[in-house]
Amino acid sequence: MSRFVAKSIDQYHTLYKESVENPEKFWAAFAEQEFVWHKKWENTLSFDLRKPTIQWFAGGKLNITENCIDRHLTTRGNQTAILFEPNDPKDKPLHISYQELSKQVNKTANMLKALGAQKGDRICIYMPMTPELAYTVLACARIGAIHSVVFAGFSAQSLSDRINDAQCSLLVTADGGYRGQKITPLKAIVDQALISCLSIRRVLVLQRTGLKVSMKSGRDVWWHEVFAKASDACVAESMDAEDSLFILYTSGSTGKPKGMVHTCGGYMVYTNYSFRNVFQYQEGDIYWCTADIGWITGHSYILYGPLSAGATTVMFEGIPSYPDMGRFWRIIEKHKVNIFYTAPTAIRSLASGDLSWVHSHDLGSLKTLGTVGEPINLEAWQWYNEHIGQGQCPIVDTWWQTETGGIMISNLAGVSKDIPTFATLPLPGIQPCLMDEAGNEIATLEAEGRLCIQFPWPSMARTIYGNHQRFADTYYRAFEGKYFTGDGAKRDKNGNYRITGRVDDVVIVSGHNLGTAEIENAINEHPLIAESAVVGYPHPIKGHAIYAFVTLRSPKHEDASVGIKIEINSLVTSLIGPIAKPEKIQFTAGLPKTRSGKIMRRILRKIAEGNTESLGDISTLLNPDCVEQIIQGASI
Ligand code: WTA
Repeated sequence: MSRFVAKSIDQYHTLYKESVENPEKFWAAFAEQEFVWHKKWENTLSFDLRKPTIQWFAGGKLNITENCIDRHLTTRGNQTAILFEPNDPKDKPLHISYQELSKQVNKTANMLKALGAQKGDRICIYMPMTPELAYTVLACARIGAIHSVVFAGFSAQSLSDRINDAQCSLLVTADGGYRGQKITPLKAIVDQALISCLSIRRVLVLQRTGLKVSMKSGRDVWWHEVFAKASDACVAESMDAEDSLFILYTSGSTGKPKGMVHTCGGYMVYTNYSFRNVFQYQEGDIYWCTADIGWITGHSYILYGPLSAGATTVMFEGIPSYPDMGRFWRIIEKHKVNIFYTAPTAIRSLASGDLSWVHSHDLGSLKTLGTVGEPINLEAWQWYNEHIGQGQCPIVDTWWQTETGGIMISNLAGVSKDIPTFATLPLPGIQPCLMDEAGNEIATLEAEGRLCIQFPWPSMARTIYGNHQRFADTYYRAFEGKYFTGDGAKRDKNGNYRITGRVDDVVIVSGHNLGTAEIENAINEHPLIAESAVVGYPHPIKGHAIYAFVTLRSPKHEDASVGIKIEINSLVTSLIGPIAKPEKIQFTAGLPKTRSGKIMRRILRKIAEGNTESLGDISTLLNPDCVEQIIQGASI
């Protein structure tokens, strides 16, 4: 039992105090005590948040997979590491032991090497939620290659943008991926994406669905053919704590998605620490996080956090509505899941169905529930508490980001109190603060402002791949010397945080971050469209949805508006992915602009929300007349 895992609220406060008074000592003690290092670091922390430069445990040598796999072999080799639940409930689940995981990862690592992969290479992974996805991620880490997982719902264009940005040399994919009744033709999407990617030398293709695919000779190879020949022994590469572990793309307010870079040491330390503290995982627990490994939640809390803690982590290939709306609950019953971690959008969508889907299953094994990805509204929280937790389970509301690597603000299950709709208190080691619009820190406890973090923590992103300037500008310029999260938050008199949502042009749709500028760029590709403005508006299931205001080049094209709407949807689908499709499209004669020509998205956001009484002063606009027309035509 680690003294760094708080077991009571008093311990939480003691640890918090210790972590703030001497952060370096705190993290050094935890890192030294809890992990296998080849060599101890020289400096626990060196940083300058104005630049920013951040280094944790630099000079320390380790391999994260030894901490996630090898060190468990003597103590829990036969314990299930990954419990794989396939898309089709009639197919048998797989109980992959730590021993088996070790073999599979080593074989996969040797397979990657056989295809020419080396330490430092970027490897793109575009795969369905199969065990082989987990093996590939861990195999990259084992040989020191940098993984860049791209969610398998992204379009060919998005995939090729990400491959080109990171100059990946190898791509791992599958013939297709199951999603309920559908099959996503992953290899066909890859073939299209690779037309514009010159860096990829080899493509490794897993056979999952049996979908017919074309294989390009000299470039494409079947997983099973190379795998069969690979040895199951692979010495882990010795990595510096500050070597890159992975790149993961996230959408920003402007421009292309940002490749957030995480490093080996700090990320390992913090995902393990936060997993154990937040979920209070106990030996023997079955833990299930429903995220996809294509997102940070899957990286940190399906794979690295749980595996480094020696947990049994469930990996589900399918979707919550297949074959019916009871699937999640059936899986909990079947595998006697103790800890269940999901997103508010999934809760809302399941809550909208018939309660008999829930009540026909025995959920008695559950001890702890969790949510992540966006603010959870009170109604969804209560439904989750009453019907899934049966009033018995703490709900951890975990606030964090791709950029933070791990959970930052959350109650700790059964240790600190849950307060509906509040993420509550920062984990020990995390120092949040609220800033006002003038850039000053708000000193009073009860306050509302922009959420920043004022001191480094081990798993913070170190840079944006290939663009450190953008990293500095996006996160460290608004408030000097502090990391700016892009979120707004309220704090109550007891120091509990309630996240109010994004304060930038990122919209979270069904838990997926979407940059409005990226969607506008996609829409503007349409030859008949002059310009567009995209905003988010509240949606009962998705949390937020996309509303696009679109101006046509000529009013005469309005006759074709139905067709244009369909074309907008297919443009967005092909350039970004179906998740970014606008829910509503409104054609307008003009968009409200400032005198300097900037589109006033704030006004459009209010109109999309149906909140037209509080538009503020519009008389200073370049074209105030268009506002009334837009209100008249709005579909709310
Ligand atoms: C939002 C997901 C409220 C927030 C781990 C953040 C949340 C963005 C919560 C990051 C929460 C995440 N309560 N809002 N518990 N968790 N968010 O990078 O706006 O996909 O900035 O990381 O999701 O999304 P990302």
